[in-house]
Amino acid sequence: MIYGNIQVVAGNANPKLADAVCRDLGIPRTPAKVEKFPDGEIDVRVEDHVRGNDVFVVQSTCPPVNDNLIELLLLVDALRRASAGRITAVVPYFGYARKDRKDEGRVPISAKLVANLLVTAGVHRVVTIDLHAAQIQGFFDIPVDHLYSSQVISEHFKKLQIPDLMVVAPDVGSAKMARGYAKRLGGDLAIINKRRIKADQTEVTEIIGDVAGRNILLIDDMISTGGSITEAAKACRRAGAKDVYIAATHAVLCGQAREKLESCGAKEVVLTDTIPVDTVGVETLFHVLSVGPLLADAIDRVHHERSVSALFSRREEGMS
Ligand code: R5P
Repeated sequence: MIYGNIQVVAGNANPKLADAVCRDLGIPRTPAKVEKFPDGEIDVRVEDHVRGNDVFVVQSTCPPVNDNLIELLLLVDALRRASAGRITAVVPYFGYARKDRKDEGRVPISAKLVANLLVTAGVHRVVTIDLHAAQIQGFFDIPVDHLYSSQVISEHFKKLQIPDLMVVAPDVGSAKMARGYAKRLGGDLAIINKRRIKADQTEVTEIIGDVAGRNILLIDDMISTGGSITEAAKACRRAGAKDVYIAATHAVLCGQAREKLESCGAKEVVLTDTIPVDTVGVETLFHVLSVGPLLADAIDRVHHERSVSALFSRREEGMS
Protein backbone atom coordinates (compact mmCIF):
# COMPACT_ATOMS: atom_id res chain seq x y z
CA MET A 1 0.00 0.00 0.00
CA ILE A 2 1.38 3.40 -0.96
CA TYR A 3 0.57 6.14 1.53
CA GLY A 4 0.35 9.85 0.77
CA ASN A 5 3.40 12.10 0.52
CA ILE A 6 6.66 11.50 2.38
CA GLN A 7 7.08 13.90 5.29
CA VAL A 8 10.07 14.14 7.60
CA VAL A 9 9.66 15.44 11.14
CA ALA A 10 12.44 15.79 13.74
CA GLY A 11 12.89 16.53 17.40
CA ASN A 12 15.95 18.16 18.91
CA ALA A 13 18.26 15.12 18.86
CA ASN A 14 19.75 15.60 15.44
CA PRO A 15 17.96 18.20 13.26
CA LYS A 16 21.02 18.58 11.00
CA LEU A 17 20.82 14.90 10.05
CA ALA A 18 17.07 15.26 9.41
CA ASP A 19 17.86 18.20 7.10
CA ALA A 20 20.50 16.13 5.28
CA VAL A 21 17.89 13.40 4.76
CA CYS A 22 15.38 15.98 3.44
CA ARG A 23 17.99 17.43 1.07
CA ASP A 24 18.58 13.99 -0.40
CA LEU A 25 14.85 13.32 -0.68
CA GLY A 26 14.32 16.76 -2.23
CA ILE A 27 11.62 17.76 0.26
CA PRO A 28 11.40 20.43 2.96
CA ARG A 29 11.36 19.28 6.58
CA THR A 30 7.86 19.37 8.08
CA PRO A 31 8.13 21.96 10.85
CA ALA A 32 7.49 20.89 14.41
CA LYS A 33 7.73 22.84 17.63
CA VAL A 34 9.52 20.76 20.23
CA GLU A 35 10.03 22.78 23.38
CA LYS A 36 9.98 22.49 27.15
CA PHE A 37 7.45 23.82 29.64
CA PRO A 38 9.03 25.74 32.54
CA ASP A 39 8.76 22.62 34.72
CA GLY A 40 10.77 20.52 32.26
CA GLU A 41 7.87 18.67 30.62
CA ILE A 42 8.19 18.46 26.86
CA ASP A 43 5.67 20.13 24.59
CA VAL A 44 5.39 19.32 20.88
CA ARG A 45 3.26 20.49 17.98
CA VAL A 46 3.57 19.37 14.37
CA GLU A 47 3.06 22.55 12.37
CA ASP A 48 1.78 21.10 9.10
CA HIS A 49 -1.01 18.73 8.02
CA VAL A 50 -0.06 15.05 7.96
CA ARG A 51 -3.40 13.32 7.29
CA GLY A 52 -2.90 10.15 5.24
CA ASN A 53 0.78 10.86 4.67
CA ASP A 54 3.86 8.65 5.10
CA VAL A 55 5.60 10.35 7.99
CA PHE A 56 9.17 9.62 9.11
CA VAL A 57 10.28 10.92 12.50
CA VAL A 58 14.07 11.25 12.57
CA GLN A 59 15.24 11.17 16.16
CA SER A 60 18.20 9.39 17.74
CA THR A 61 17.77 8.49 21.39
CA CYS A 62 21.21 9.84 22.22
CA PRO A 63 22.09 12.04 25.22
CA PRO A 64 20.06 13.66 26.69
CA VAL A 65 18.57 10.19 26.24
CA ASN A 66 15.37 10.57 28.22
CA ASP A 67 14.43 13.94 26.73
CA ASN A 68 15.09 12.68 23.22
CA LEU A 69 13.07 9.52 23.83
CA ILE A 70 10.09 11.44 25.22
CA GLU A 71 10.28 13.94 22.32
CA LEU A 72 10.10 10.99 19.92
CA LEU A 73 7.15 9.40 21.73
CA LEU A 74 5.22 12.69 21.91
CA LEU A 75 5.84 13.45 18.23
CA VAL A 76 4.55 10.00 17.31
CA ASP A 77 1.50 10.47 19.52
CA ALA A 78 0.80 13.85 17.91
CA LEU A 79 1.13 12.36 14.41
CA ARG A 80 -1.17 9.44 15.24
CA ARG A 81 -3.82 11.79 16.63
CA ALA A 82 -3.44 13.95 13.49
CA SER A 83 -4.29 10.90 11.32
CA ALA A 84 -0.91 10.35 9.66
CA GLY A 85 -1.28 7.41 7.27
CA ARG A 86 1.84 5.62 8.47
CA ILE A 87 4.42 6.61 11.07
CA THR A 88 8.00 5.37 10.88
CA ALA A 89 10.41 6.04 13.72
CA VAL A 90 13.82 6.64 12.15
CA VAL A 91 16.10 6.11 15.13
CA PRO A 92 19.67 6.23 13.75
CA TYR A 93 21.07 5.58 17.24
CA PHE A 94 18.81 3.38 19.35
CA GLY A 95 19.62 4.10 23.00
CA TYR A 96 19.00 1.79 25.97
CA ALA A 97 20.14 -1.01 23.64
CA ARG A 98 22.85 -2.33 25.94
CA LYS A 99 20.24 -3.54 28.44
CA ASP A 100 18.81 -6.20 26.14
CA ARG A 101 18.56 -9.18 28.50
CA LYS A 102 18.03 -10.03 32.14
CA ASP A 103 21.52 -11.06 33.14
CA GLU A 104 21.00 -10.70 36.90
CA GLY A 105 18.06 -10.54 39.28
CA ARG A 106 15.70 -7.55 39.55
CA VAL A 107 16.88 -5.65 36.45
CA PRO A 108 14.78 -4.38 33.54
CA ILE A 109 15.12 -5.28 29.88
CA SER A 110 15.24 -1.61 28.91
CA ALA A 111 15.54 -2.14 25.14
CA LYS A 112 12.30 -4.16 25.17
CA LEU A 113 10.52 -1.49 27.20
CA VAL A 114 11.61 1.20 24.70
CA ALA A 115 10.34 -0.98 21.84
CA ASN A 116 6.99 -1.37 23.64
CA LEU A 117 6.77 2.38 24.26
CA LEU A 118 7.33 3.17 20.57
CA VAL A 119 4.65 0.74 19.43
CA THR A 120 2.20 1.93 22.09
CA ALA A 121 2.78 5.54 20.98
CA GLY A 122 1.74 4.58 17.44
CA VAL A 123 4.85 3.68 15.45
CA HIS A 124 4.10 1.39 12.48
CA ARG A 125 7.70 0.64 11.55
CA VAL A 126 11.25 1.41 12.60
CA VAL A 127 14.38 2.29 10.66
CA THR A 128 17.62 2.14 12.62
CA ILE A 129 21.38 1.84 12.09
CA ASP A 130 23.84 -0.60 13.67
CA LEU A 131 21.79 -1.76 16.63
CA HIS A 132 24.03 -2.67 19.55
CA ALA A 133 22.54 -6.17 19.34
CA ALA A 134 20.79 -7.19 16.11
CA GLN A 135 18.30 -9.33 18.04
CA ILE A 136 16.64 -6.15 19.37
CA GLN A 137 14.73 -6.27 16.06
CA GLY A 138 12.82 -9.17 17.65
CA PHE A 139 11.60 -6.91 20.45
CA PHE A 140 9.27 -5.36 17.86
CA ASP A 141 6.31 -7.10 16.22
CA ILE A 142 6.31 -4.43 13.51
CA PRO A 143 8.77 -4.19 10.57
CA VAL A 144 12.28 -3.04 11.50
CA ASP A 145 14.72 -2.01 8.79
CA HIS A 146 18.18 -2.46 10.26
CA LEU A 147 20.72 -0.49 8.23
CA TYR A 148 24.51 -0.71 8.40
CA SER A 149 26.88 2.23 8.32
CA SER A 150 29.69 -0.06 7.14
CA GLN A 151 29.29 0.96 3.53
CA VAL A 152 29.77 4.63 4.47
CA ILE A 153 32.77 3.93 6.73
CA SER A 154 34.34 1.38 4.35
CA GLU A 155 34.24 3.84 1.44
CA HIS A 156 36.30 6.26 3.53
CA PHE A 157 38.94 3.65 4.39
CA LYS A 158 39.05 2.27 0.84
CA LYS A 159 40.09 5.74 -0.32
CA LEU A 160 42.92 5.84 2.26
CA GLN A 161 44.39 2.61 0.84
CA ILE A 162 46.11 1.72 4.11
CA PRO A 163 48.89 -0.85 3.56
CA ASP A 164 49.44 -3.86 5.89
CA LEU A 165 45.96 -3.40 7.31
CA MET A 166 44.74 -5.37 10.28
CA VAL A 167 41.17 -4.80 11.44
CA VAL A 168 40.92 -5.21 15.20
CA ALA A 169 37.73 -5.82 17.18
CA PRO A 170 38.08 -4.02 20.54
CA ASP A 171 36.03 -6.78 22.17
CA VAL A 172 34.52 -10.13 21.28
CA GLY A 173 31.10 -8.51 20.71
CA SER A 174 32.41 -6.47 17.78
CA ALA A 175 34.26 -9.38 16.13
CA LYS A 176 31.56 -10.02 13.53
CA MET A 177 31.49 -6.36 12.53
CA ALA A 178 35.31 -6.29 12.32
CA ARG A 179 35.34 -9.44 10.19
CA GLY A 180 33.04 -7.73 7.67
CA TYR A 181 35.42 -4.77 7.45
CA ALA A 182 38.47 -7.02 7.09
CA LYS A 183 36.78 -8.78 4.20
CA ARG A 184 35.66 -5.60 2.54
CA LEU A 185 38.96 -3.74 2.97
CA GLY A 186 41.18 -6.72 2.31
CA GLY A 187 42.89 -6.85 5.72
CA ASP A 188 43.43 -9.47 8.41
CA LEU A 189 41.45 -9.76 11.63
CA ALA A 190 42.52 -9.62 15.28
CA ILE A 191 40.31 -9.65 18.37
CA ILE A 192 40.90 -8.07 21.74
CA ASN A 193 39.89 -9.80 24.92
CA LYS A 194 38.42 -7.01 27.06
CA ARG A 195 37.37 -7.03 30.68
CA ARG A 196 35.06 -4.31 31.94
CA ILE A 197 36.09 -3.28 35.43
CA LYS A 198 33.54 -0.47 35.90
CA ALA A 199 31.02 1.28 33.63
CA ASP A 200 33.78 3.66 32.49
CA GLN A 201 36.85 1.48 32.92
CA THR A 202 38.04 -1.45 30.83
CA GLU A 203 41.18 -3.53 30.65
CA VAL A 204 42.74 -5.34 27.70
CA THR A 205 43.71 -8.83 28.82
CA GLU A 206 45.11 -10.06 25.50
CA ILE A 207 45.19 -9.45 21.74
CA ILE A 208 44.32 -12.52 19.70
CA GLY A 209 46.41 -11.96 16.57
CA ASP A 210 49.82 -10.40 15.85
CA VAL A 211 49.47 -6.65 15.35
CA ALA A 212 53.23 -5.87 15.35
CA GLY A 213 54.25 -3.82 12.31
CA ARG A 214 50.66 -3.59 11.07
CA ASN A 215 48.44 -0.57 10.50
CA ILE A 216 45.35 -0.99 12.64
CA LEU A 217 41.69 -0.20 12.14
CA LEU A 218 39.77 -0.52 15.40
CA ILE A 219 36.05 -0.72 14.71
CA ASP A 220 33.10 -0.71 17.12
CA ASP A 221 29.39 0.08 16.99
CA MET A 222 29.69 2.89 19.55
CA ILE A 223 32.11 4.95 21.56
CA SER A 224 30.51 5.80 24.87
CA THR A 225 33.03 6.66 27.60
CA GLY A 226 35.78 5.81 25.12
CA GLY A 227 37.40 3.34 27.51
CA SER A 228 37.09 0.23 25.33
CA ILE A 229 38.45 1.64 22.09
CA THR A 230 41.20 3.85 23.54
CA GLU A 231 42.53 1.06 25.77
CA ALA A 232 42.50 -1.15 22.68
CA ALA A 233 44.41 1.51 20.69
CA LYS A 234 47.04 1.80 23.41
CA ALA A 235 47.38 -1.98 23.70
CA CYS A 236 47.91 -2.26 19.93
CA ARG A 237 50.61 0.38 20.01
CA ARG A 238 52.32 -1.33 22.96
CA ALA A 239 52.24 -4.54 20.93
CA GLY A 240 54.18 -2.85 18.10
CA ALA A 241 51.40 -1.66 15.77
CA LYS A 242 52.17 1.24 13.39
CA ASP A 243 49.30 3.69 12.72
CA VAL A 244 46.04 3.16 14.60
CA TYR A 245 42.77 4.31 13.05
CA ILE A 246 39.57 4.29 15.11
CA ALA A 247 36.08 4.05 13.64
CA ALA A 248 32.63 3.75 15.19
CA THR A 249 29.08 4.35 14.05
CA HIS A 250 27.63 6.02 17.13
CA ALA A 251 29.58 8.84 18.80
CA VAL A 252 27.89 8.82 22.21
CA LEU A 253 31.08 10.41 23.62
CA CYS A 254 30.16 10.88 27.25
CA GLY A 255 32.40 11.61 30.22
CA GLN A 256 36.08 11.99 29.25
CA ALA A 257 35.67 10.26 25.87
CA ARG A 258 36.97 13.17 23.78
CA GLU A 259 40.07 13.60 25.95
CA LYS A 260 40.75 9.86 25.85
CA LEU A 261 40.44 9.82 22.06
CA GLU A 262 42.77 12.81 21.74
CA SER A 263 45.45 11.23 23.91
CA CYS A 264 45.35 7.57 22.81
CA GLY A 265 47.72 8.07 19.88
CA ALA A 266 45.17 7.36 17.12
CA LYS A 267 45.93 8.84 13.69
CA GLU A 268 42.27 9.40 12.84
CA VAL A 269 38.90 8.91 14.56
CA VAL A 270 36.13 8.25 12.06
CA LEU A 271 32.54 8.64 13.26
CA THR A 272 29.13 9.03 11.66
CA ASP A 273 26.48 11.64 12.34
CA THR A 274 23.84 9.27 13.79
CA ILE A 275 24.57 11.42 16.85
CA PRO A 276 25.76 15.04 16.42
CA VAL A 277 29.52 15.31 16.95
CA ASP A 278 31.21 18.45 18.19
CA THR A 279 34.50 18.61 16.27
CA VAL A 280 35.66 21.99 17.59
CA GLY A 281 39.29 21.66 18.64
CA VAL A 282 39.65 18.16 17.17
CA GLU A 283 39.13 18.99 13.48
CA THR A 284 42.34 17.27 12.40
CA LEU A 285 41.64 14.09 14.41
CA PHE A 286 37.87 13.57 14.08
CA HIS A 287 36.37 12.80 10.69
CA VAL A 288 32.56 12.72 10.58
CA LEU A 289 30.76 10.89 7.76
CA SER A 290 27.07 11.45 7.08
CA VAL A 291 24.51 8.65 7.08
CA GLY A 292 21.98 11.11 5.60
CA PRO A 293 22.12 9.67 2.05
CA LEU A 294 21.80 6.12 3.40
CA LEU A 295 18.72 7.04 5.46
CA ALA A 296 17.18 8.95 2.55
CA ASP A 297 17.69 5.95 0.29
CA ALA A 298 16.06 3.64 2.85
CA ILE A 299 13.12 6.03 3.39
CA ASP A 300 12.55 6.29 -0.35
CA ARG A 301 12.55 2.49 -0.64
CA VAL A 302 10.16 2.06 2.30
CA HIS A 303 7.80 4.64 0.79
CA HIS A 304 7.80 3.04 -2.64
CA GLU A 305 7.54 -0.51 -1.23
CA ARG A 306 10.96 -1.39 -2.63
CA SER A 307 13.37 -3.73 -0.91
CA VAL A 308 15.61 -2.25 1.77
CA SER A 309 17.60 -5.45 2.17
CA ALA A 310 18.47 -5.24 -1.53
CA LEU A 311 20.31 -2.04 -0.67
CA PHE A 312 22.55 -4.10 1.57
CA SER A 313 22.84 -7.28 -0.42
CA ARG A 314 24.27 -5.01 -3.11
CA ARG A 315 26.46 -2.98 -0.82
CA GLU A 316 27.02 -5.29 2.10
CA GLU A 317 28.24 -8.50 0.58
CA GLY A 318 30.55 -10.27 3.00
CA MET A 319 28.76 -9.03 6.13
CA SER A 320 27.65 -12.46 7.34
C1 R5P B 1 30.39 -2.98 23.97
O1 R5P B 1 29.71 -3.95 24.06
C2 R5P B 1 30.22 -1.98 22.88
O2 R5P B 1 30.38 -2.52 21.61
C3 R5P B 1 31.19 -0.85 23.05
O3 R5P B 1 32.49 -1.38 22.98
C4 R5P B 1 31.04 -0.17 24.37
O4 R5P B 1 29.70 0.04 24.67
C5 R5P B 1 31.79 1.12 24.36
O5 R5P B 1 31.70 1.67 25.62
P1 R5P B 1 32.85 2.58 26.19
O6 R5P B 1 33.21 3.56 25.13
O7 R5P B 1 32.22 3.21 27.40
O8 R5P B 1 33.99 1.68 26.57
